[in-house]
Amino acid sequence: MMFPEYRPRRLRRNEPLRALIRETSLSPAQLICPLFIMPGKNKREEVGSMPGVFRMSVDQLTREAQECLKLGINHVILFGLPEKKDPVGSGAHAKDGIIQRAIKELKNKAPQLMVTTDVCLCEYTSHGHCGVILNRQVDNDATLEILAQTALSHAVAGADMVAPSDMMDGRVGAIRAILDENNFEMVPIMSYAVKYASAFYGPFRDAADCAPQEGDRKAYQMDPANMREALREATLDVDEGADILMVKPAMPYLDVIRLLRDEFDLPIAAYQVSGEYAMIKAAAERGWLDGERVMAESLISIRRAGADMILTYFAKEYAKVYGKIG
Ligand code: PBG
Repeated sequence: MMFPEYRPRRLRRNEPLRALIRETSLSPAQLICPLFIMPGKNKREEVGSMPGVFRMSVDQLTREAQECLKLGINHVILFGLPEKKDPVGSGAHAKDGIIQRAIKELKNKAPQLMVTTDVCLCEYTSHGHCGVILNRQVDNDATLEILAQTALSHAVAGADMVAPSDMMDGRVGAIRAILDENNFEMVPIMSYAVKYASAFYGPFRDAADCAPQEGDRKAYQMDPANMREALREATLDVDEGADILMVKPAMPYLDVIRLLRDEFDLPIAAYQVSGEYAMIKAAAERGWLDGERVMAESLISIRRAGADMILTYFAKEYAKVYGKIG
């Protein structure tokens, strides 16, 4: 194939031709919309560093669910801001905890909406770490039982899927075991298998009020410099019973998404995190870039890298313009 006989531009001449040869697509059915649930009544607060993203009280969820479903978004993932925090994160598995109440509300009022829950302790611990602290360290094995209880309490409340994001070793196995023992063998685990210690989580920690009071998360989340280690993390989670493997963040780690896509046959999820969202929003607000097109381009790049599904704060906005942007 040589110029001038071959001219790639022939197939780029107009939109119908471009649409015909488009290799990647993203439908709203492949998106999962994160929701932040807060205490109180009639509350809807915009997150300062995430324009267009709201923390809301449980009574607001019916409206939110209906809006998602109308737009073709069938999946949400829930994050909770509890009334009280304590050193062992008891609020995470409380029978009438914020997330447990939110799940029940959603499953009552909008049963078609699939509800996944984030399983972690950082929003519930007074120190803001993702596990319990013993001898000044986040203790892996002591945390496993609490995480398993948390996942179970979500399943009991009606969650369709659980997503552990804590990065303790062995948590997928612990959660699979407790779910199976309690007849929740059909509840899938979407594992945050490859979660990096990333500064891109900054705005989320505002939104969910879960920044560590002391230190950082580098002793449990992965080093951004590592790729082979991603294979080991993912292999462990597959062996422990994960149903879906997640890479997080997304855009700075497209190579890792591609690696997992090539090495594993499980579905791959990617989390376009708060900082990725905030950067695009901030630049668009200043008129420095076209927010809508950059949103679409960022999402398609994540799909092209190999993600089957994307967790993104753009879910509703993307669904609104779906079909209108090339
Ligand atoms: C932990 C958790 C975090 C995110 C999802 N789950 C924060 C963290 O690990 O510090 C980040 C999501 C985002 O930045 O959008 N429960």
